[in-house]
Amino acid sequence: MNIRKMKKSDIKKLVNLEEKAFPIGPYDYNMLRLSYKLSRGMSIVLEDSARIIGYAMGIGIDEIHCDVESIAIDPDYQGMGFGKKMLLSLEEIMRSRGYKSSVLEVREKNSGAIRMYTSAGYIISEFLENYYEEMYEGSRNAFRMVKNL
Ligand SMILES: CC(C)(COP(=O)(O)OP(=O)(O)OC[C@H]1O[C@@H](n2cnc3c(N)ncnc32)[C@H](O)[C@@H]1OP(=O)(O)O)[C@@H](O)C(=O)NCCC(=O)NCCS
Repeated sequence: MNIRKMKKSDIKKLVNLEEKAFPIGPYDYNMLRLSYKLSRGMSIVLEDSARIIGYAMGIGIDEIHCDVESIAIDPDYQGMGFGKKMLLSLEEIMRSRGYKSSVLEVREKNSGAIRMYTSAGYIISEFLENYYEEMYEGSRNAFRMVKNL
């Protein structure tokens, strides 16, 4: 198992992973490519042999804040500590770029992800009503969570 920087050629492989990991609103190829571009090198993948089983992307908001734009682990590999490992690796890159704060938005019903973020030191800073377009578990609301880097 190996964490490395994402390459442009990885993006095609992420489409399947997205669809597997996000039952609602997975990013399509164009959205993944745009996020990759905006992340300016703050994108990483988790590889098992040649297979990509997870990824994470960060996008700078301003000079201080960086957003965890997306993070996903293949459902076959969830619950093994890889999500948190990817998150901490992404934070390390943010830190090296001089960011002071990591920010993210998560669906209020995504309790697994909220647990991971809390366990990694994030706290809820805001409730975002109807933040998402699509419903998930009967809700479009989200939390904004933050962590000092
Ligand atoms: C959210 C996600 C990235 C977590 O990855 P993961 O590899 O399964 O998580 P980990 O095994 O690293 O778990 C990290 C911590 O979160 C907790 N956790 C993660 N998923 C959990 C779940 N479904 N239920 C309860 N706790 C959970 C773990 O118990 C662990 O806690 P600990 O650090 O106190 O031991 C993964 O479930 C995923 O890809 N989900 C679909 C996509 C998604 O929702 N992304 C986030 C969008 S904001």
